[in-house]
Amino acid sequence: MKIVRYSAMVLAGMFAANAQAVSLYVGQYKAGMVCAQCHGIRMPSADAPVPPLGGRDPEYLKTAIKQYRDKTRKSDIMNAIAGSLTDSEIADIAAYYASVKP
Ligand code: HEC
Repeated sequence: MKIVRYSAMVLAGMFAANAQAVSLYVGQYKAGMVCAQCHGIRMPSADAPVPPLGGRDPEYLKTAIKQYRDKTRKSDIMNAIAGSLTDSEIADIAAYYASVKP
């Protein structure tokens, strides 16, 4: 019984520690569900006038997405999409796209 309780605590501790960390898995999921429809993962869809994101600098991506969210950078499409993202979602997505080889 002691062992069970101990592993539950370790697990809970791991989740708490992970909550702050950037998650490539969350980023991959969100990028795949939302962003990839226009940006693709490795490159944009052939017929779309959309910049590629794979392999780009994560700080650049984070800054750009936050600028869209705060509407300091204008794009009707991206202002709408970035408007609902949290800081941690932006960090996850930027880290994921930066990790992808274009
Ligand atoms: C409906 C299509 C569409 C979707 C979905 C979309 N984007 Fe975009 N994105 C665009 C277009 C179009 C631009 C170019 C806008 C401009 O001129 O600034 C752009 C630009 C960007 C840029 C700037 C790239 C650069 O080179 O400066 C980033 C970063 C970005 N998008 C991130 C995202 C992320 C992250 C998501 C998912 C949360 C996403 N986009 C979803 C259409 C889309």
